[in-house]
Amino acid sequence: MAEMLLSFRDVRAGYGAGIVLDAITFDLPENGSLALLGRNGVGKSTLILTIMGMTQIGRGRIVWRGRDITTDAPHRRARAGIGWVAQEREIFSALTVEENLTVAARPGRWDLKSVYDLFPRLAERRRNFGNQLSGGEQQMLAIARALMTNPALLLLDEPLEGLAPIVVEELAAAIRRMTGEGANAFILVEQHADIALSLTQSALVIERGRIVHSGASAALLADHAALDRLVGLRLAEA
Ligand SMILES: Nc1ncnc2c1ncn2[C@@H]1O[C@H](COP(=O)(O)OP(=O)(O)O)[C@@H](O)[C@H]1O
Ligand SMILES: [Mg+2]
Repeated sequence: MAEMLLSFRDVRAGYGAGIVLDAITFDLPENGSLALLGRNGVGKSTLILTIMGMTQIGRGRIVWRGRDITTDAPHRRARAGIGWVAQEREIFSALTVEENLTVAARPGRWDLKSVYDLFPRLAERRRNFGNQLSGGEQQMLAIARALMTNPALLLLDEPLEGLAPIVVEELAAAIRRMTGEGANAFILVEQHADIALSLTQSALVIERGRIVHSGASAALLADHAALDRLVGLRLAEA
């Protein structure tokens, strides 16, 4: 059996006493990739936050590389190798691009040179401050900064949201190159189902806090009827 990086076993989670997710069970192997799909408000960001340790767990277990981390604090999970790009692109606006990148850097495959290769636009903007960047550049910076921590698992929560079609294409291409490196596992939450499925090995679809579909991304991508039923077919603008 392949070595599992992250496993959820019958996890119930939410905020305070409110339950958002229930009966969540899945496995992610080392260097694996998972698309997390579903309509607005079904609990995708809550699942990402639950992986980071930022929600309340009502039942179930979360296992990281064979170790139970169900009650571990967020900073311990980050140190263990879980990197996160929040839906709200939190970059430091008073720091330059390069300072944003180096502030949390840890040794590994990703360094200044390799993230600048991945995002040439950030290399051009290295002396600019965070608040001088366009939305697309801020998103590139948020992803690049997470990569600089060299996580074993990278969590990307709607990285293409709110970006112009041309920027969506540029960013999706960079994510494709990143995933092609196979340097880390990742979980991608995305409204553009076709992009998310084309970038990942497997997919989960969530509906009202529960997993309603789990399988190979390629199979779901090929099944337009299922896609339409599960997430409302939404293809990226050509
Ligand atoms: N910080 C929070 N406190 C309480 N409820 C929240 C919080 N964040 C999200 N929710 C609720 O959890 C549900 C799922 O939200 P979310 O995980 O953000 O969905 P998605 O990312 O799929 O759009 C929604 O009903 C939302 O109102
Ligand atoms: Mg969300």
